[in-house]
Amino acid sequence: TGWHTVGEVASLFASRDCMGTVLDGVKVGIFRVDGEFFALDDICTHGAALLSDGFLEGHEVECPLHAGLVDVRTGCALTAPIVRDTRRHQVKVTDGQLLVRLS
Ligand code: FES
Repeated sequence: TGWHTVGEVASLFASRDCMGTVLDGVKVGIFRVDGEFFALDDICTHGAALLSDGFLEGHEVECPLHAGLVDVRTGCALTAPIVRDTRRHQVKVTDGQLLVRLS
């Protein structure tokens, strides 16, 4: 089906709203906003930083390296120096398990 099981939501997101993982060799960042989950390529399109190490405020994640903003719902680059959008992945929760399908 192409869905990868990342793990149990309750333990993965017990004390944080961002996490990074690797699926099929792809670094994926997963973000929780208001109980909803969003998944993006984790590597910033501007440089060598992981968005999941950044700062999430509302639906915007701030890259930890140069503070560019990305909308976690769409992967859209919102502010400089990020200009290229980030690839999104599908994410869902089934029976308490978080699953991601790579795009
Ligand atoms: Fe993300 Fe520069 S590496 S803004």
